[in-house]
Amino acid sequence: MSDVVLSINKLTKNFGKLCAVNQLDLEVRRGQIFGMLGPNGSGKTTTLGMLMGVTNPTSGSFTWFGEAATHHTRKKIGAVLEHPIFYPYLSGQKNLELNAMVKGADPANIAKVLDIVELSARKDDKYKTYSLGMKQRLAIASALVSDPIILILDEPTNGLDPMGIAEIREIVKRIAADGKTIILASHLLDEVQKVCSHFAVLRKGKLMHSGPVDEVGKGEETVEVMAYHDDLAVLLQEFIGSGSIKKENGVYQVTMKDGFHSQDLNKFLFEKGIVTSHLATKKKTLEKQFLEILAEAH
Ligand SMILES: Nc1ncnc2c1ncn2[C@@H]1O[C@H](COP(=O)(O)OP(=O)(O)OP(=O)(O)O)[C@@H](O)[C@H]1O
Ligand SMILES: [Mg+2]
Repeated sequence: MSDVVLSINKLTKNFGKLCAVNQLDLEVRRGQIFGMLGPNGSGKTTTLGMLMGVTNPTSGSFTWFGEAATHHTRKKIGAVLEHPIFYPYLSGQKNLELNAMVKGADPANIAKVLDIVELSARKDDKYKTYSLGMKQRLAIASALVSDPIILILDEPTNGLDPMGIAEIREIVKRIAADGKTIILASHLLDEVQKVCSHFAVLRKGKLMHSGPVDEVGKGEETVEVMAYHDDLAVLLQEFIGSGSIKKENGVYQVTMKDGFHSQDLNKFLFEKGIVTSHLATKKKTLEKQFLEILAEAH
């Protein structure tokens, strides 16, 4: 059996003239914690909405477990989309019981999922007394109650304080360790780096990149430097962040070692009394490229 759980082919959604998702191609494999990373308005929620069957695609298609989405395939997917609805005057436990009933899930799962999201101790308290983080955790529990193969989370840490964010991250990892595949939308690179194994970057509905998270910091940066100083070559050698150095058309090309950037080199030269006449980054690390995309106004 193929380990591809989700395959998206040229998926597109237009809202009038606006193209919210533009010819998106993606694959998610079993066991991945897959991050959909993109700034506000880049099409994450719209994509998840199409995958969950709440938004109709304009064109393109996707398959779950190699099949076109049906009511049956969707039963294997649990999702927390933007605004989960619970009864404020009922307890967490009661809300989950109702949820399990609606979904035809085994009520015996409730205790387990409450445990996973660390709400067992508060399960009999009314929903309206829960903190935002607890509400979010109950939403995750509710998505897990039918024991889905895949869990979809749309910005699960939005609005939470650092403590709440850390709790959600731990829970997501625990759920993945339990064998589930997770798809998680986020606008934070840091979050994706801390939680995900693989990710895709969206920008204005278009796929900019997809791959494993551990590649993010890699990719060497080359800095072009020019300064009117006799010892420039010597000093460039001396800089601890310098990898290889070569001179082309009177300009030095310095490849940076992992973790070093043009500003580090600039600072080093400045402290040695050298003011550069030209300093430009040629190849950027993926991390830097993504941070620029994420910082874009929308
Ligand atoms: N129902 C709708 N009608 C019209 N435009 C919409 C609709 N839903 C989304 N859009 C537009 O589609 C684009 C993508 O929105 P979407 O909510 O998918 O982005 P997002 O990546 O989830 O953003 P955020 O990080 O803010 O949640 C945006 O420009 C948005 O305004
Ligand atoms: Mg969204």
